[in-house]
Amino acid sequence: MPPPPSPPHLTPAGPATVTPAPGPALAPAPAPVPVPVPEEAVTPLMRGITVLHRLTEAGGTQSLSALEKTTGLARSTVDRIAATLSRMGYLRLDGRDAVLAPRLMELGNAYLAALRLPRLLDTRADELADELDESVSLAVADRDGIRFIHQATRRRAMSLSFRIGDLLPAERTAPGPLFATEWTPEDWTRWRDRRAADPRDHGFPAIPPREHRTPTPESAALDAPDAPNALDAVDAFEERTRRAAQQGWAVDDQLIEPGLVAVSVPVRDRGGRVACVVSVVSHTSRHSADSLRDAVLPRLRATVHAMERDLREAPARPPASPAGLATWTGASKQELGREFIESLARGLTVITAFGEGRAELTLTEVAQATGLARATARRALITLEHLGHVTARGRTFTLTPRVLALGFPPLSRTTLPQIAAPHLADLVARLHDSASLAVLTGEEVQYTARVATSRIMSVNITVGTRLPAYATSLGRVMVAGLSPAEREPFLTGLRALTPHTVTDPAVLATVLDRVRDAGYALVDGELEEGLRSIAAPVRDRTGRVVAAVNVAMHSSRRTVEQCVDEVLPHLSATAGAIEADLRVAGRFTQIPST
Ligand code: PHB
Repeated sequence: MPPPPSPPHLTPAGPATVTPAPGPALAPAPAPVPVPVPEEAVTPLMRGITVLHRLTEAGGTQSLSALEKTTGLARSTVDRIAATLSRMGYLRLDGRDAVLAPRLMELGNAYLAALRLPRLLDTRADELADELDESVSLAVADRDGIRFIHQATRRRAMSLSFRIGDLLPAERTAPGPLFATEWTPEDWTRWRDRRAADPRDHGFPAIPPREHRTPTPESAALDAPDAPNALDAVDAFEERTRRAAQQGWAVDDQLIEPGLVAVSVPVRDRGGRVACVVSVVSHTSRHSADSLRDAVLPRLRATVHAMERDLREAPARPPASPAGLATWTGASKQELGREFIESLARGLTVITAFGEGRAELTLTEVAQATGLARATARRALITLEHLGHVTARGRTFTLTPRVLALGFPPLSRTTLPQIAAPHLADLVARLHDSASLAVLTGEEVQYTARVATSRIMSVNITVGTRLPAYATSLGRVMVAGLSPAEREPFLTGLRALTPHTVTDPAVLATVLDRVRDAGYALVDGELEEGLRSIAAPVRDRTGRVVAAVNVAMHSSRRTVEQCVDEVLPHLSATAGAIEADLRVAGRFTQIPST
């Protein structure tokens, strides 16, 4: 049994002194006392992190001129930071826009791997969501907020659904009071200061600001008739915390937005501290907060019980070698260019020194893992600590959940076609032929991303187009990746679409074996006379073929030999680049193939 929860450390001040009621008559909020910047902090690292925060808040894309405004930095500084992040693969420049790139997720991955949650618990969370047919989330405490580390989403229309890395104010959530049972008097003071300085929650871009909470006719109709006044409930946070400590669970009765209800239970680690909180989230069209609690609490508690056992029994992880340093580290300053800010790149690389079995590192270990000089690693750690991405305890450093604010929320919603699109565009820029990404649907391939040249092709292909798998290069590389039993349906009912189409199942089976061994498929005039295409598979982290990329052209453009000699190397590199992004992005999130 976990030890009983400790009583909340509440300061004597009552709720009346906590929060002035928000409203137009409110006096200007007292400015929070600024924490002085340590003398050794690395300015380019601070600025680069500011750019990443602003891009994250903007949903992953912002023009360079907008970044200049939102960060308050000079345009030349924004340009150099963008060039550096782009060289690191963390950002892409698309015309005037800076766009966060999937590779950036290696920072958040370092935090999640070091934490070992959600990995140890995500399967149970997903099973609970399946069983209840409601959304289930895992959240950790992030100072006076909560941050999501896993989402098993069953969210229907009508309510927001939060992303991995989103931060919510503790007092407007169900997990919040459970975390607050462990708050120190300093934590309560910080919470009060934040509420006074930001009564409308502008510091939480993932949620609608308070002034937008005025119920609309629709939201009022969706609200339970007995919906409490959300602001009263927020002000009652200390009381909710006291009750959470006694009961071991807490609810959110539409504190985030009308209609959204949640019930939460803490998962305690071996030491009895709250490691994370599991929430079941529903909507007032299905449940009131009370009926949700009655319906799911026993099942939720059983899951938490099993999760706590999993945590206790998880074998300790031997320190692994770091996951591999950023690609830029091997390159020379000359290759990297004048615009490259090494101190920014080095500082961010420090984050990737952490990981599974590497949750707590000393300065020496960070320096060893990154290959940085001790003095450089030290200054980077001081900077990251100042910005709240690292905490120091004694001689060791750990990452904080705030690392997830470096791009994770928008990037965790990336799909495979979105990941592939810039790589396809690069390929087309090199080859001047159309390139596509496709998946298997039934016995057909379906195009999911495409970059076309202006050359006229007789087959008119757009995203969504379906073609028979057996007669296309895309289909053949994907079918070649299947087991013999899974291949069966693709070997029957073969029709000659041209005089060259392979229609004999035995011949096609041999072709597929060759495709599998060669790692590519070339189809010449089998789908349509005069159309030649070459395709390569795209595999996920587990090695499963999840999609294919191809280049297609009129047969007068290149001979079959030229396709293999000139196109295939570029095509394979493109498939490899998509796979590399997929490995990073898919480590802790599900990447939809379409
Ligand atoms: C969620 O997982 O979306 C969630 C959890 C707890 C809340 C609100 C939302 O209080």
